[in-house]
Amino acid sequence: MQYKILPVEKVEKIRTNYIQITINDEEFASQCSPGNFFQIKAFIDSQNRRLFKPISVFQVEGYHISFIIKVIGPGTRALASLESGEKLMIYGPLGNSFPLVQDSNILLVSGGTGYPPLAYLKSKLDSSNNILFLDGGASKDDIFPCDYAYTIDGSFGIQGMVTKDIAEFLKKESFDCVYSCGPISMLKTLAQIVSQAKQYVSMEAYMACGMGVCYGCVIPTIDGYKRVCYDGPVFEAETILWAEL
Ligand SMILES: Cc1cc2nc3c(=O)[nH]c(=O)nc-3n(C[C@H](O)[C@H](O)[C@H](O)COP(=O)(O)OP(=O)(O)OC[C@H]3O[C@@H](n4cnc5c(N)ncnc54)[C@H](O)[C@@H]3O)c2cc1C
Ligand code: FES
Repeated sequence: MQYKILPVEKVEKIRTNYIQITINDEEFASQCSPGNFFQIKAFIDSQNRRLFKPISVFQVEGYHISFIIKVIGPGTRALASLESGEKLMIYGPLGNSFPLVQDSNILLVSGGTGYPPLAYLKSKLDSSNNILFLDGGASKDDIFPCDYAYTIDGSFGIQGMVTKDIAEFLKKESFDCVYSCGPISMLKTLAQIVSQAKQYVSMEAYMACGMGVCYGCVIPTIDGYKRVCYDGPVFEAETILWAEL
């Protein structure tokens, strides 16, 4: 797959450690579905050996594609240093996508950088659905618009993990479908709590190629090892061998 070199249309600092980057590309925008991600790196990184970084699609409006990126290491720092008009290298969209349902009671659960793909999914689920969105993070800077927010340090919303009240929500309401994205520990806990509803998880993994070639991102499933970048990142929760992760 060929990468493109595109100018950044807009870079905004939206939280202490988060930026939102927007690009404009008709071909990419027409191919995106919720759950897809792109491999991205700042063009200034083309001079060195730094890897492309997997980043989920957050929003698609017309030909504008936006990403929310948490700045945590060299690759994301380089992206955060870009200014409008400067270039990035990008290929995708990659991976599979969340199935879209209708007339359903839906629970969305995101943790940390798991928020962007679920926000995009929410924008694509039609109004026949009833949606409850829970978002969790370490502190208030990690929280984005949702119905209930959870922070570990209690600086915003309810103090605790985003999985804290899910058993209670499930007692009160019957959900047809649960979609989630976040750290493996969060997805693991969720898989133990949710038993009735169909559950789709978008998995995190360290990635190199991002397109199924290197096998650096495999996870154990009931059908053998699967590549998160190519067979996923979205999997049915019941197919994953959680105890082996
Ligand atoms: C499919 C997919 C979609 C993603 N979407 C987004 C997104 O929309 N927004 C966003 O901010 N981030 C997203 N990420 C995470 C993002 O790719 C990493 O944060 C980024 O690669 C870090 O690169 P770095 O060079 O800045 O830091 P690095 O130096 O590579 O890492 C810094 C620290 O983060 C840890 N880390 C890095 N990558 C991962 C990973 N994949 N899983 C767990 N820990 C990791 C490292 O162990 C290290 O401690 C996604 C990851 C995947 C696999
Ligand atoms: S990152 Fe290379 S196969 Fe998934």
